[in-house]
Amino acid sequence: MRPLNAALWIASEELLTPARKALADLGVRVVFEQAALVNLQAALMRLAQARPDLVLVEIGELDDRMAQIFREIRGLPGSPAPVAVHHSADPEKILAAMRAGACEFVYPPLEANLRPAIERIAAELAGGRRQTTGGKTLGFFSAKGGCGATTVACHVAVELQRQTPHKILLADLDLETGLIRFFMKTKSEYSVLDAAHNIDRLDEHFWRALISNGMPRLEVIAAPAVAASVEPPQEESFRRVIRFTRTLYDWVIVDLGRSLSPRTMNALEEIDEGFLVTTLEVPALYQAKQLITTLLSSGYGSDRLRVILNRTPKRPEVTLEEVQTMLGLPVYAALPNDYVALNEAYTSGELLEPGSGLATAFARLAARIANLPEPRKRMRFSLLG
Ligand SMILES: Nc1ncnc2c1ncn2[C@@H]1O[C@H](COP(=O)(O)OP(=O)(O)OP(=O)(O)O)[C@@H](O)[C@H]1O
Ligand SMILES: [Mg+2]
Repeated sequence: MRPLNAALWIASEELLTPARKALADLGVRVVFEQAALVNLQAALMRLAQARPDLVLVEIGELDDRMAQIFREIRGLPGSPAPVAVHHSADPEKILAAMRAGACEFVYPPLEANLRPAIERIAAELAGGRRQTTGGKTLGFFSAKGGCGATTVACHVAVELQRQTPHKILLADLDLETGLIRFFMKTKSEYSVLDAAHNIDRLDEHFWRALISNGMPRLEVIAAPAVAASVEPPQEESFRRVIRFTRTLYDWVIVDLGRSLSPRTMNALEEIDEGFLVTTLEVPALYQAKQLITTLLSSGYGSDRLRVILNRTPKRPEVTLEEVQTMLGLPVYAALPNDYVALNEAYTSGELLEPGSGLATAFARLAARIANLPEPRKRMRFSLLG
């Protein structure tokens, strides 16, 4: 079993010291410590980077903020388990903590009482039984303009809707040339900017007014129809929007546009897996290599970064091995070039119908992402008609 990572939000010295000792004895690594909760959003951003499995939160003074804090913790990448820590086994506090969404309640002596709680969390993680309320977030971005990030993001979202019973959000964070509004025939006049500008009042009710849905279980939040002239929201607001959406959907597919802006870099921190879409053209491969180097050197884990080769010709001039060596990362999927089929679909305002070579490649990609058995290529003529 892999060792667990924990974060500590404990201000009282009499709880902090024994908690540190108990965790060390149990082989749990402390990846982040925060004393008093002065700035919740800043602490959550640092927690998102640290990716703990559990967060020990001293609940003494939290009172009515407890439910919000536990919900935000569960909405972080990896959905860490919130563990309430208090100096006594006060029944009212236990009830309040459990109602607020704590998965464990511990009190001194922590050396003895933390062990069973940690063992339960470890067992749930090992058995894949952890109740995670957070969905999985995937970000798609092009190595350079036009490599196909939007096309891949839209088709993956639709395929996830077809192949799973899950709830899916397709979100357009490409504020400059966001085309998801067009591809998905979005009816809502609102956009992801309205969510980011109103981040402090964002709740489910408000959210419902912003999104649009054409297919069951697949909702869309578009970019502004025209690149907005309004004051741009703080970059951090987009992270908070992604964090919020994770609590409502099983899959959140984000179109991050081309290349890496500060906004994209910021959003990627919050995203479980980043998909870099490139073609085999030399300038695109060159840009892809630069982006990979930038991301890895800024601490983005290579296990979270996936390369998609789009528009691969039938007889490519370079081999897959050569591309992988050049980029320093494995190619997660190679999608065929099918300009005619896509162009026909887009001209009639639709996405690709299932069945063509490219549509099947999208179906396979979505199945791989969702860990499902690969769909077979559809027979052109079925005996059953
Ligand atoms: N596999 C493919 N085969 C053929 N044409 C493709 C393929 N994927 C995308 N295209 C075409 O490439 C063009 C650009 O696609 P798309 O808008 O998805 O790229 P993008 O990376 O999102 O671009 P931008 O940088 O403008 O956001 C479109 O005309 C699309 O039809
Ligand atoms: Mg695009």
